[in-house]
Order: sequence, then structure tokens, then C-alpha cells
Amino acid sequence: MRINANYRNIKDSYLFSTIGQKVSAYTAAHPEADVIRLGIGDVTRPLSPAVVDAMAKAARELGTAEGFHGYIPSEQGYLFLREAIADYYARRGVTLSPDEIFISDGAKSDLGNLLDLFDADNTALIPDPVYPAYVDANVMAGRRVVYCDATVENGFLPLPDEGVHADLIYICSPNNPTGAVYGREGLQKWVDYALRHDAVLLFDAAYEAFIEDPSLPRSIYEVEGAERCAIEVCSFSKMAGFTGTRCGWTVVPEALEREGMNLNRMWMRRQSTKYNGTPYVIHRAAEAVFTEEGYRQCMESIAYYKQNARIMAGTLDQLGIFYTGGVNSPYIWLRCPGGLDSWTFFDRLLEQANVVGTPGEGFGANGEGFFRLTAFNTREKTAEAMQRFERLARSL
Ligand code: MLT
Repeated sequence: MRINANYRNIKDSYLFSTIGQKVSAYTAAHPEADVIRLGIGDVTRPLSPAVVDAMAKAARELGTAEGFHGYIPSEQGYLFLREAIADYYARRGVTLSPDEIFISDGAKSDLGNLLDLFDADNTALIPDPVYPAYVDANVMAGRRVVYCDATVENGFLPLPDEGVHADLIYICSPNNPTGAVYGREGLQKWVDYALRHDAVLLFDAAYEAFIEDPSLPRSIYEVEGAERCAIEVCSFSKMAGFTGTRCGWTVVPEALEREGMNLNRMWMRRQSTKYNGTPYVIHRAAEAVFTEEGYRQCMESIAYYKQNARIMAGTLDQLGIFYTGGVNSPYIWLRCPGGLDSWTFFDRLLEQANVVGTPGEGFGANGEGFFRLTAFNTREKTAEAMQRFERLARSL
């Protein structure tokens, strides 16, 4: 028996697990500490009433002979939710068939599972810094990874370099962790590059609902040619508070083919073999997000989080600390005060201010010296955390 030796090439623990362990160790040693968590992007607002009503109704339905549902008719997901998602795209001029939409238990699973469609002997191009699951999932499969630098100079929005060949390209926009969002021109450059290189673009749109500038694309399919080179992954987690409820979707266009194989058929084949589908109750809850009332309620929560981001930005402005994000995104990406490296600042913030954030280095080498805070906590805790942050930053 041989284990997958690629696991030797990743860190022992995933970024957010490492942070969780450090925080648990700290709270065990200091049970009196009132620790405020602005680390992992977990939401705090309750599910919206429209979502809860739909979920409760679906649960009751399952308790009746007529309304009971067993295995779902297609692992791709119930048609009613795929149609609701297609309609959501249609509102901004993107035409998708429900057959191109696959319901999942969240973006993270699909972003990893999609790699089943591609040979290990491929090169993945991944921005640095970015959501760490992309790199880890590729290294686990033994794939080559090359990076493109997201820096202050390029506004954290790197563009393709023709001299670098890639087969798989990751784009996260709005970006986790920097909050930077590509405009149409930038995305067009990536799509054109992917088409020229016969590559496939994996577009992570998990934060699209935070985009408030109507000129910014919320889907890669707003860009010409994307249906021939891009897979889009999206999630109800941040849009509707489903981090614990678990639901997302993936779009694999019918037009996406490589080496004579249709990727939509391949993904269907993969899912029907390895996934038994998202629960009926969760489908109904997710469907309610797209009703007029449900969507308005979800957008109220997003507005609440954005107000938190404004409070955080206000403190950083007063301190004269460089930061980005917080406008079209729930994350603020800042330079560590006092010139500290990102893990040292993490420790100081935890130990001296009892506030948890995420060290920039955890998102890639270019994140060294930076730090991420999320706007997903409550108003009161965010304000309190920023007062503590200010006191610490002034002392450095
Ligand atoms: C984050 O904090 O980056 C996200 O919450 C992680 C995730 O969505 O899996």
C-alpha cells in the first residue's frame, strides 16, 4: 500500500484549523478572556425569515406521505432551484440553462472536487495571496502550481503573463482576502488568455453578492467567450448566511469541451458517482433566497456587514494604516501595524487585544506583512474589537 505522498508537501494543518487551534489553546489558558473573532469569514446574522419559513415548510412536507422525498431525482439538484439560479443570472443578462447548473453543499467542496476532471500532469496558476484551499487541493493531487503576484502595485488584480503557460487558472473576484474586484476588461484578458492556452478558468464568485458597483461583473459569463473556457463556483454561505446550512452551485457550460470531452457531462458523471445530492430541505431554503422578500432580507444582512466594514475602515483611516477591501467585499486587508510580520501581529492581537484575525501569510507569500479582518461579526463586537485594535496599534 502506498499513501498519497503529496500530503507530505502541504502544511500539517489547514490555515483556518491552525488559527482555530491557536485560539482554543489561548482561551483554555485564559478562560476569562473575552475573545472577539474577526478571523474566519463565518457569518453571525441569523438566517432570514423567508429562508427559515421555507426550510420549516419543507421539513413538515417530508413528514407527510404525499410530500416525502427520498433520493433526489438527479444528483445535479432539484430543477426548481436550478431554475431559480438561472433566473438570478438572467437578471443581469447572463443566459444559462438549468442543465448547466449543479447544486452542491458549498463552494469549497466543488472547488476541490472539480480537480477530478483534470489530469495531475497539469499546471495550475493561482494568485498570491488567495483563498488557501486552491493551492492545498492542487498540491494534494500532485499538480504543479505557479503563482501570479497580487500586489499593492497592481491593485491586487494580476493580469495574465503570456510567457507563463497554465492549464488551470483560479480567479476569485471579489477576492478573498484582498477584496479587490476585477472589472470587465481584466476578466476579458483572463478569458482570452485561457482560450489561447486551451486552459480552464475556475472562477470563484462566492462574494459576488457584495458587489455594489453596477459596472463590475458579478459572473465570469458576463465576459465574452467565458462559456468556452470557464467554470463558475458560487455559494449561499456569505450571500445568505448558509455557512452552517451548506449550499452552493457550480456552473459548467454545455459549450465547455477539452480533448473532445464535454466537461458538463464529465462533471455530471463525477457527481452522480461520488455525490448523492444536497438535501431537499436545503434546496427549498436556498430557493427562498431568490424570492423578492428573501433576497431583500439577505441584502439587509449584507448591508449590516458592510456597515461593520465602514467602522473598521474608519479606525484604519484614523491610524493611517494602508488597507483595501470592505466595499465590494466583507474583508478588509491591511498592512500590519508597527511593521510586524503577519503571524507576530496575529499573536499580539490575540494576546494583547483578545481579537482574532487572519495573518496574510496564510494566503500566500505575498500576504506577508498583511492581515485580514472580516466584517461578519456583530456591530457591537466589531466596534469593540476596533477600539482594542486601535489601542494596540498605537502602542506598537
Ligand atoms: C474564509 O474565511 O476565507 C472563508 O470563510 C473560508 C471559506 O469560505 O471556506
